Amino acid sequence: MTRLIVTGGAGFIGSAFVRGLLSRGNPPAVTVLDKLTYAGNLANLAEVADHPEYTFVHGDIADAALVDELARDADAIVNFAAESHVDRSITEPGAFLETDVIGTFVLLEAARKHRHQRFVQVSTDEVYGHVETGHTDEDATLRPRSPYAASKAGGDLLVGAYSTTYELPVCITRSSNNFGPYQYPEKVIPLFVTNAIDDEPLPLYGDGLQVRDWLYVEDNCAAIELVLERGEPGTTYNVGGGNELTNLELTRMILELLDKPESLVRSVPDRPGHDRRYAVDASRIQALGWAPSHDFRTALADTVRWYRDREDWWRPLKDGDYVEYYRRQYADRLAAGTRIG
Ligand code: NAD
Ligand code: DAU
Repeated sequence: MTRLIVTGGAGFIGSAFVRGLLSRGNPPAVTVLDKLTYAGNLANLAEVADHPEYTFVHGDIADAALVDELARDADAIVNFAAESHVDRSITEPGAFLETDVIGTFVLLEAARKHRHQRFVQVSTDEVYGHVETGHTDEDATLRPRSPYAASKAGGDLLVGAYSTTYELPVCITRSSNNFGPYQYPEKVIPLFVTNAIDDEPLPLYGDGLQVRDWLYVEDNCAAIELVLERGEPGTTYNVGGGNELTNLELTRMILELLDKPESLVRSVPDRPGHDRRYAVDASRIQALGWAPSHDFRTALADTVRWYRDREDWWRPLKDGDYVEYYRRQYADRLAAGTRIG
């Protein structure tokens, strides 16, 4: 692939993908298409801004005319663009359908028309829904339970349909929870780290015994790149870190790394429909040659240090509209919250 469109490249994972691609020798020409929603941030791409192979286009993946124009000069699309936060999907689901379903459809149509060599849909383990025991493989039934997960599942089903009907060379990756630098401070790790730095309460949903499998963002990007290069057309690949932790265990690790007391933690009313556990079987992508190369504890410590060192990055994000978002999401919860322990 020599001319790549990376949608959502100004977000957390997309920007890590672009920084990674452009940091190596002989990279493809990369066009980032991003709407710059609250989660998109050009500061995430500052280090590649002057790279000769990088172009930024401000726009919406659901804008068919714009997408068609860009797709004409490309041979592959990697679709990171999405509304990505479960809590926001519960309060305002509309944008999730527009971007995660309709936006994906618009991209697929352009890839079909311009006969792209590859389309990679960056998806999520949340489409499988809550996993009681064991690990879900790629053939598991989709049982999405939040508007976010349902929208991503809708996008994935369209991708599958374009593979079957039009023989479009598509792949889907479904990863577990990513963490690392440049993650918007609404997601639990950057939220808890930045709150703890400021000695603000950490709003832990419910009993905190929900389980997530943590994956360092660069390991996910390596998996996506591998699928872009060598994925079998029409195939879905799960990507899991193999680091299952309860949210309470994770919270305690963060506090320990920052040398902050457990009294900052508040057990607050739970997320409606909160999935108790996600866990994917990643053996298919492992067979393709992928394995995570970052040790979880080291990567978490590095990540916490990054947020400590980069207040210039996250403090402006916790201002403006974020203040209203935080109040709406947490004021009542924190008022009803109780201390842990
Ligand atoms: P993010 O919210 O940090 O970034 C999303 C990016 O998409 C932003 O730059 C935003 O401006 C852009 N965007 C949103 N709507 C758009 C539109 N209509 N047109 C163009 N750009 C638009 O998200 P992320 O955490 O980096 O996630 C990237 C992808 O990976 C998403 O598809 C998400 O579903 C998936 N995913 C994320 C995780 C995770 O743990 N963060 C795990 C599995 C899968
Ligand atoms: O599993 C992959 C998914 O991981 C991605 O598809 C999503 O885009 C990404 O946002 C993430 O979804 P989660 O809902 O798992 O991530 P979040 O960081 O919002 O929450 C992680 C866990 O922490 C979850 O069990 C809810 C809990 N939590 C979260 C927040 C924001 C809290 O206890 N308190 C909080 O304030």
